[in-house]
Amino acid sequence: MEINLLGVLPEALLIDLPEIDVQHEEIFRRIEQLKADCYGSGPVSFDEFDGLLDYLKYHFSTEESVAAEAGASFGEHAKIHRQNLRKLRKAFDEVRQGTRDVHSFLRYVEYWFERHINEEDKPFASSVRECRLKSPVAILPESGP
Ligand SMILES: [Fe+2]
Ligand SMILES: [Fe+2]
Repeated sequence: MEINLLGVLPEALLIDLPEIDVQHEEIFRRIEQLKADCYGSGPVSFDEFDGLLDYLKYHFSTEESVAAEAGASFGEHAKIHRQNLRKLRKAFDEVRQGTRDVHSFLRYVEYWFERHINEEDKPFASSVRECRLKSPVAILPESGP
């Protein structure tokens, strides 16, 4: 699969699963866009924050599907995703209620995301690669008479 990364995702955070790296790149891109918007002069739309959290949910389900397809275990990782999403939504609720500022929220999201890639997604990628290597290669039928 050919991927076209925009350069927001640091190379050190690539996990060598292209379908997942592309989504990590998109998440960093959205965080960067929100940071830029929050330093601009206009009011910040909370819809973009909701969009980021929805995209994270979608991303977590993609990782779950990739693990299932490869036959890799994912129970603990899925649990961490659920806990993380709860914490992120709680932090964003604080922004809505005015008890946390958007910059604090974005610093939190960025720190959390980088840590999650290093501590959970990298081992996950290794186990997916291992499972893919172990699974039998499909033998295609020969063509022609
Ligand atoms: Fe991830
Ligand atoms: Fe993950």
